Amino acid sequence: MTIGIDKIAFYTPNYVLDLVTLAKARGDEPDKYTIGIGQNRQTVVPNFEDVVTMGANAAIKIITADDREKIDLIIFATESGIDNSKSSALYMQTLLELSEFVRTIELKQACYAGTYGLMQARDYVATHPGRRVLVVASDIARYGLSTSGEVTQGAGAIAMIVSEAPKIVSINTDSVYMSRNASDFWRPVDRQEALVDGHLSTDIYKEMFLTLWQRYQLKTNQQLNDFAGFAFHLPYTKMGKKALDQIINEATLAHQQKLTHHLKASQKFNREVGNLYTGSVYLSLLSLLSYATDLKSGDKLAIFSYGSGAEAELYSVTLQNGFENHVPAKMTQQLLLKRQLVSVNQYETMFKSQLYDSHININSNAVKDTKLFQFLGWHNGERVYR
Ligand code: HMG
Repeated sequence: MTIGIDKIAFYTPNYVLDLVTLAKARGDEPDKYTIGIGQNRQTVVPNFEDVVTMGANAAIKIITADDREKIDLIIFATESGIDNSKSSALYMQTLLELSEFVRTIELKQACYAGTYGLMQARDYVATHPGRRVLVVASDIARYGLSTSGEVTQGAGAIAMIVSEAPKIVSINTDSVYMSRNASDFWRPVDRQEALVDGHLSTDIYKEMFLTLWQRYQLKTNQQLNDFAGFAFHLPYTKMGKKALDQIINEATLAHQQKLTHHLKASQKFNREVGNLYTGSVYLSLLSLLSYATDLKSGDKLAIFSYGSGAEAELYSVTLQNGFENHVPAKMTQQLLLKRQLVSVNQYETMFKSQLYDSHININSNAVKDTKLFQFLGWHNGERVYR
């Protein structure tokens, strides 16, 4: 049975900060942000959006009546969850009006959890032919004002429906993975901003990629020339280049050019949004499928998923017949184009306006006249959504 990603959609809030403007405000060289880090803009999150609203706003774009009948499991991957007990999948199930006869679960392991969710979804469909799984990866990457991580902030959600006979890619059973307890990035439960050793995290990412690439080759006998492209977890787009540079010489010269061209395609959306933790590698996949117009069915793509702390997985997907008709390239481009640019002052105000205190009954700045799901505020310790 062929199993994989049947549908995919992306959502990010409507506000965006230009990083040249931010660099100037922070007294940094703009080229450091746009070339050294490789980011152009980052999404700014208003206080009426969170991982639940972003996840639901992504998923609603792809769920049909048929999916509603066939989805048995909702997997919600996040490291910026809104409750220490209740799963974000439950809130989302309500907003999306999905059946009560489903399993709902939230997964956490930094940016890696979305990939684990996808693997669980594939295994579920393998043992339940005809059934489907909704996998959502939704996060807000938040480091703090004027920190070195600030330039790598961002937010958004990816929703995917996993089924048999998928329309976009099949997920191959060739994964290699590893876990190692490392102190490169973490967020204690009483903090809203991540603690990070940025340079250590970059080194561990590179090392785990190289280790897994070598392990993958031993396991599968595949060579770099067998892959039409890579989708990397992209905390910032330069990270993908740093990883690929370690192995690119293994390809023929012509193939090196192709991989470099496709790496650029895989970075385009991420450049405009910033890090979205769990969803980042799948936004990169969506970007690659949207911009690499020479890809064809049967091509194999490698996916490298990394989550600090640290855990990583490398596996491949195969493009399905007619995949290009099911990639929401235009819809995603339009979503990014129509965002409202904010000044550094507006960004800082929004950054400080998040409603983290559940003890106070308070309304968010939710806007009227929108069809989007929103967080309305706290009422008696409960989060209220519309
Ligand atoms: P930094 O110390 O501010 O920057 O931190 P830098 O001094 O290292 O400079 C960055 C790059 O810009 C360097 O290039 C400079 O040479 C270049 P590199 O040597 O790396 O190729 N540069 C310039 N280029 C052109 N013109 C100029 C110029 N000036 C400098 N004028 C850092 C950067 C990414 C470390 C920081 O932003 C950070 O800590 N970010 C957060 C952590 C992170 O993103 N880590 C990535 C790997 S870990 C991961 O992916 C997991 C994660 O997503 C979390 C999770 O799993 O949940 C983060």
